[in-house]
Order: sequence, then C-alpha cells, then structure tokens
Amino acid sequence: TEETLVLVKPDGVARGLTGAILHRIEAKGYALVDIKLVEPDRDLLEQHYAEHAGKPFYEPLLDFMLSGPSVAIRLAGNRVIEGFRSLAGTTDPTTAAPGTIRGDFGRDWGLKVQQNLVHGSDSPESAARELQIWF
Ligand code: GTP
Ligand code: MG
Repeated sequence: TEETLVLVKPDGVARGLTGAILHRIEAKGYALVDIKLVEPDRDLLEQHYAEHAGKPFYEPLLDFMLSGPSVAIRLAGNRVIEGFRSLAGTTDPTTAAPGTIRGDFGRDWGLKVQQNLVHGSDSPESAARELQIWF
C-alpha cells in the first residue's frame, strides 16, 4: 500500500468544508491513518513549499497558509497519491472539473494566491518528505 499527505487548507477549514472533503475521501475507500488540526509556523511552510520559493505566488501562498489552521491527514491505499489528486482536481479551481473537490467547492476569489481547498502530495518522494514535515 501507499501513503500520501492530504491537507485541508485554511480556506477549506474556515468555510466548514472539512467534513464534506473527508466524506469524499472516505467514500472513495481510502484509509485515514492519522489526522490532526495544525497551525503551521513559517518554518514548517518554507520546508513544505521549498520547490516554490521565489515564485510570484510564494509569499501570498505562505501568508494564506498562515491565516488559520489546516487539517493534516495521513491517507493510505493502493495508488492513493494519484487517486487523491484525481479527487482534488486541477490546481486552478475555476477550471477544475465538476465532480472534483476543487471543481465543486472552489472558485477565484480575486486574491494573489489560488485558494484551492486541499493539498495532495504529487509523488512517493514528495509524500515521504511531506509526511515527515507534518507528522
Ligand atoms: P498542492 O496539492 O497544494 O501542492 O497543489 P498543486 O500540486 O495542484 O499545485 P502546486 O504544488 O503547483 O502549487 C502549490 C499551491 O500554490 C497551489 O495549490 C496554489 O495554492 C498555489 N499556486 C500554484 N500555482 C499558482 C499560480 O500559478 N498562481 C497562483 N496565484 N497560485 C498558485
Ligand atoms: Mg503540489
């Protein structure tokens, strides 16, 4: 089996969508191995988003992720990394497919960062690295 890091980001928590998002994950059949509410500090987020350092959306992204708690989930199942990213939909919520978390619950709020409700690791290497950072 495989594990991934899923985050319900601050917009998802603030909008009261944690339950709806967890419902989709559970209905798909993945296993919740661990789950907690986290108020990350800047140091944790710099580690998590190291690949985006220097990009125009980097500082707004960190500010957004510091704006409130996230729910961190250790999720398990065969091919869960690609499976959760399929559930989440593409990065831009405006055009993410209906039926996905981002497509059904997300939109463009006119902000400098795309508030897109969830994060999911994008490879086994990322998953191992990110799970160590958050858990
Ligand atoms: P994650 O699952 O959160 O990692 O999303 P992703 O893999 O679909 O996106 P990526 O890792 O490329 O970017 C991380 C986060 O930065 C995204 O989820 C967005 O919140 C934000 N972001 C990424 N690309 C852009 C962009 O082009 N413009 C803006 N404004 N924000 C972006
Ligand atoms: Mg990513």
